[in-house]
Amino acid sequence: MSEAMPRTVGSEAMLRTGASEAVLQTSGLARSFTQGGATIHVLRGVDLAIAPSEIVALLGPSGSGKSTLLQAVGLLEGGFAGSIRIGGVEAAQLDAAGRTAMRRDRLGFVYQFHHLLPDFNAIENVVLPQLIHGAERAPAEERAAELLTALGVGHRLTHRPAQLSGGEQQRVAVARALANRPALVLADEPTGNLDEHTADVVLAEFLRLVRGEGSAALVATHNERLAAKMDRVVRLHEGTIA
Ligand SMILES: Nc1ncnc2c1ncn2[C@@H]1O[C@H](COP(=O)(O)OP(=O)(O)O)[C@@H](O)[C@H]1O
Ligand SMILES: [Mg+2]
Repeated sequence: MSEAMPRTVGSEAMLRTGASEAVLQTSGLARSFTQGGATIHVLRGVDLAIAPSEIVALLGPSGSGKSTLLQAVGLLEGGFAGSIRIGGVEAAQLDAAGRTAMRRDRLGFVYQFHHLLPDFNAIENVVLPQLIHGAERAPAEERAAELLTALGVGHRLTHRPAQLSGGEQQRVAVARALANRPALVLADEPTGNLDEHTADVVLAEFLRLVRGEGSAALVATHNERLAAKMDRVVRLHEGTIA
């Protein structure tokens, strides 16, 4: 398969799918790890569908497999069994270039620790993914400033990550995740490193912005209170979703 093929296949499939089709559908998703001769079955057949614009909390205690599930769905790691469909496209049918294109065109990521580029300032961190996506610099800067302003960090555009507070860093990471208008945002404990008050404020801003943008989101958290603010809560228990 040529490098350009998966993108073409993906776009055609996306055109065929109606807007009502799930942005994400997993069925029988399983993932095990073998270490020191012992195998642990972390995901044992996860069936999960997320509709367009739906914000779903993925709730489960530490070690229940939330990050493992997000990594599989984010096409960051192979090694899983079962089906993952994103925008109607079966991930298993994509090669490495196709998975990269899928991540770039359809997904946005927010991690517990911001993972911003330390040598670039806030606005550049939000502009760069847009340039990689093919945007022109001027509209990319406009969109970045708009997103950062909507998140309350419009006065920190030229600060580097190290010059920002934890809450500000996560706001920049949220703006970066949304920059390319992803159909689905995957967030892994996005406020997990923040104090309770800041976590509440940043999560509220995140939800408001994601709703305003019309993206869907899957947000891992172990916090029931934060989970309750989302459209739907799913619980990861013994490797499946009840
Ligand atoms: N790369 C790996 N190798 C071996 N075990 C792993 C690996 N990644 C995760 N695990 C194990 O899988 C389980 C679930 O981990 P994780 O998905 O990080 O849970 P959560 O994000 O809910 O805290 C844990 O028991 C963890 O030790
Ligand atoms: Mg985790």
